[in-house]
Amino acid sequence: MKPFQKIFIIGFMGSGKSTVGKKLARFLNFRFIDLDREIELEAGCSIPKIFGESGEEYFRKMEQETLCKVISLQENIVVSTGGGTPCYFDNIKLINNSGISIYLKMEVSALCHRVQNSTVNRPLLKDLDEEAQKTKVEELLTERSVFYEQAGIMVNGLDIKIIELRNKIYGLRRDENNE
Ligand code: S3P
Repeated sequence: MKPFQKIFIIGFMGSGKSTVGKKLARFLNFRFIDLDREIELEAGCSIPKIFGESGEEYFRKMEQETLCKVISLQENIVVSTGGGTPCYFDNIKLINNSGISIYLKMEVSALCHRVQNSTVNRPLLKDLDEEAQKTKVEELLTERSVFYEQAGIMVNGLDIKIIELRNKIYGLRRDENNE
């Protein structure tokens, strides 16, 4: 068994990764890390500014570097990742090799509703009207599902109970130990 446990929350923008991650960390008494916030701290500026000034490719490199730093921490942690994190480079492998991943699955309509009603500035969806935003969410979700679905645990993002999540995490570990 690895000495420290690392739990990664993955899923599309607006699926509630940070909210669930914070609650789960509090429940397990683990440290909570928001990968987007870590990237902003590292860069000294906001994610929209990184996208605007240096481009998405640069952001993805920073994202992977920050993910690696977080993975190297010798602590029990719950990490909420960015919506694209598992979908670039070999990040999903890095995540699954260093801990347990949980995919918060949600339908396009729920994601669009939540993204439209959110105050978070998301560069990939900005300046799009409702229809164009829906098309973009559909396209991205189709591309990304193959990565999200490699998660060790998949749950309905609209119906999350932290105790059930904890039971799933420990159930998975028990199975692993029995192998
Ligand atoms: C992104 C999602 C964002 C942030 C960046 C890119 C993506 O995080 O990392 O804007 O590619 O889906 P959230 O999923 O927390 O919005």
